[in-house]
Amino acid sequence: MEHVVEITPIVNGTPATRRVAARTHLIDFLREELGLTGAHVGCEHGVCGACTVRLDGKIVRGCLTLAVQANGRRVDTIEGLSDTGELSALQQAFHERNAFQCGFCTPGMLIAAQDLVEQKPMATRAEIREHLSGNYCRCTGYQAIVDAIEAVLLDRRTGAPR
Ligand code: FES
Ligand code: FES
Repeated sequence: MEHVVEITPIVNGTPATRRVAARTHLIDFLREELGLTGAHVGCEHGVCGACTVRLDGKIVRGCLTLAVQANGRRVDTIEGLSDTGELSALQQAFHERNAFQCGFCTPGMLIAAQDLVEQKPMATRAEIREHLSGNYCRCTGYQAIVDAIEAVLLDRRTGAPR
């Protein structure tokens, strides 16, 4: 018999109580139980980064995290982070530089990029590439993505408005 657990993660600022199978992954919980389909499912084994979300402020793989691990903790998805405007500078820079094509990688890429902006404000292009090395993009060749992130870092250093 399947082991079912009641959990209440705080998703994008709102408690979400659900009963889930103990084996449910966080990405499936977010997409199928809560309808938050911004984070995507790609490889399902921790390689591509499409499922990147934040757990208590740290980026995690939704496909390697169990929903029960998020019980009582803060989960932020691309939907919530977009609504708060936290990603707006990066979103604008991605748009301006055509840093996405199909968009499949973009939610995870933006969350990983914002993590870099906060942690490494002086990052070089090589460090940007290294920080994004766990997020795969099959379309862009990465150059435009690195350009966009570099532009945001530069704007923050110089205090330029965006
Ligand atoms: S779907 Fe999670 S890392 Fe690829
Ligand atoms: S824009 Fe298509 S996978 Fe990155």
